[in-house]
Amino acid sequence: MEDILSLKGKVALISGAGQGVGRQVALHFAAHGCSTVIVNDFFEKRARSVADEVSALGSKGIPAVVDVTDFDSVMKVVDGAASEAGGLHILVNNAGNAGPSDKLDDLPPFWETGPDEWQRWLGTNLYGVLNVTRAALPAMMASQGDRSIVNVISDAGRVGEPGLVVYSGAKAATAGLGRGLAKALGAHKIRVNSVSLASINTPGVSTMLDNPEHVKKMLRQYIIRRVGEPQDVANMILFLASEASSWISGQTYPVNGGYSVSQ
Ligand SMILES: NC(=O)c1ccc[n+]([C@@H]2O[C@H](COP(=O)([O-])OP(=O)(O)OC[C@H]3O[C@@H](n4cnc5c(N)ncnc54)[C@H](O)[C@@H]3O)[C@@H](O)[C@H]2O)c1
Repeated sequence: MEDILSLKGKVALISGAGQGVGRQVALHFAAHGCSTVIVNDFFEKRARSVADEVSALGSKGIPAVVDVTDFDSVMKVVDGAASEAGGLHILVNNAGNAGPSDKLDDLPPFWETGPDEWQRWLGTNLYGVLNVTRAALPAMMASQGDRSIVNVISDAGRVGEPGLVVYSGAKAATAGLGRGLAKALGAHKIRVNSVSLASINTPGVSTMLDNPEHVKKMLRQYIIRRVGEPQDVANMILFLASEASSWISGQTYPVNGGYSVSQ
């Protein structure tokens, strides 16, 4: 039977794909026939290791080691990787974080933070999306057929998280950015959508998920009473990247165990 989620002949770039959600997206894409997966991370070891996993599944894995907050380097690395791959059809802006994983349980309140902390949150979560999208667009616009950008955002951007005020703002801004871009790029046949996540079991949030009290409180708000897994997110992103969603653009899809209905 035909695989309606096939990515045969497509080249994809995933930012922050060295672990967690991004890594699973890279593996899903490879498993669905994506010809080349460009694996970005600022940790070289992680980018190379996931690129090797992608290659083991039959796709070509290209590591792209760069910090997404560094515009000039991102322009150079993305251009180089897309040239090596011979085009670019899919971009997943996944790199992001709420804060240092070992301190997520103990972040300072907004009134004790200042421009240095704000810059860190906005850097990866907002400017990273701008930088990688800007760098990817020349190759995406020059490529043919259905093309898709998926931004990974957070329900924090919708409901607001008291301990993550600037992160919430960055993710809400990315949702708006995606809607504007969808309209700007529709004529070029490039679609733009977002997936909005609640808690997903990844190394980035492991300290939070290791706290049983925190998890118990959180699960009371989820209709499906479990934490999400990277596969739950990768399934939705695969759909939005594939031609099965070719008439869908400018939208935000929650992947959150029903949290959006409870809130
Ligand atoms: N895990 C969750 O509960 C959750 C919830 C809501 C939203 N999200 C969002 O999902 C996305 C993926 O999260 P995750 O939990 O898989 O994260 P993670 O921390 O487990 O993995 C993120 C990867 O991105 C890389 N990275 C971080 N900053 C980077 C930068 N500036 N340049 C290049 N690489 C960088 C890291 O090295 C890491 O390998 C993020 O955008 C995050 O905000 C996650």
